[in-house]
Amino acid sequence: MPVITNIEDLRVLAQRRVPRMFYDYADSGSWTESTYRANESDFNAIQFRQRVAVNIAKRSTDSHMLGQPVSMPVAIAPTGLTGMQHANGEILAAKSAKRFGIPFTLSTMSICSIEDVAQETQGHPFWFQLYMMKDRAFIADLIERAKAARCSALVLTLDLQILGQRHKDIKNGLSAPPKLTLTNLLNLMTKPRWCLGMLGTHRRQFGNIVGHVKGVSDMGSLASWTAQQFDPALNWDDVQWVKERWGGPLILKGILDAEDARHAVESGANALIVSNHGGRQLDGAESSIRALPKIVQAVGGEIEVHMDGGIRSGQDVLKALALGAKGTYIGRSMLYGLGAMGEQGVTKALEIIHNELDLSMAFCGRTSVSAIDQSVILPGSFSPWI
Ligand code: GLV
Repeated sequence: MPVITNIEDLRVLAQRRVPRMFYDYADSGSWTESTYRANESDFNAIQFRQRVAVNIAKRSTDSHMLGQPVSMPVAIAPTGLTGMQHANGEILAAKSAKRFGIPFTLSTMSICSIEDVAQETQGHPFWFQLYMMKDRAFIADLIERAKAARCSALVLTLDLQILGQRHKDIKNGLSAPPKLTLTNLLNLMTKPRWCLGMLGTHRRQFGNIVGHVKGVSDMGSLASWTAQQFDPALNWDDVQWVKERWGGPLILKGILDAEDARHAVESGANALIVSNHGGRQLDGAESSIRALPKIVQAVGGEIEVHMDGGIRSGQDVLKALALGAKGTYIGRSMLYGLGAMGEQGVTKALEIIHNELDLSMAFCGRTSVSAIDQSVILPGSFSPWI
């Protein structure tokens, strides 16, 4: 077993252990992947101010997201097909998040269903991410299911009504469960752990959808399902419709523009997530970390601003907090851990990020999350905002 010291180690192990079509699904962006790459590389342009001889003996990464206490301001992002990176993936990630004291967000496009996750985490509250589909009766039902499962926030995704093209998914013939073609079988033969795990679970399809939508017993490819079911007509009136039906804390995901951020504030949502969907949608859009400061400015403290995209370390979390995010999300960093080592791997990813955040805060002379602000960043290192 290799010694794991950072998220990249988990990525390498996941690549070895997860069938190619699912590893590629997680680890790719749309078209040229320029936004996907910028999400990570733009963090590198930001430099910290190192401070010394500050008493850093007592430190804490405790904070709040949406008024809920968190052991660090890092939530698990909703990611599709998590239960294909590892058998029962969503349940394992939710359990790990529960133990760690951070929010877990379940995707509509998960393999384990809302009910499965609620049961296996003994009713511990988690967040549910919703896609708007044309079948409003199904959406209304999903919202009721999320309420029944005691989900404590709803994350409505606004940037995926149509799907950005990811070349590898087309070439790999992505589907859940995988079709047993010769190429897939040959690849599966090299992933014995994954296969054993999958043989030991009945959760191999989209658990929130199959059996709940009339006539859907097999969804075929994600791309064709999205094209048929997701509602390209989604607009701010629909956001109101969801808000009224849900009645609880609402987070709007996929905001990258200051004008849209104002719409989000005016919609009455409780938080927004600065996000370009992990570089998986509009290729050529700006990175999340670059978009963050202007959105924080536009929102002016009226609602919480969260961000996702490119976070592979605690240093990245600290940079996002310094630029005004109240909370951050990890998608791929969690998936690499899950694919590498299941629940233990997710916990490892969280420990790595927590440790890096704690130590980096200390090097910057900060002992609490509330003491993090722009002055953590070296002026001039991230123009034009700082
Ligand atoms: C779904 O959220 C995807 O990006 O595939």
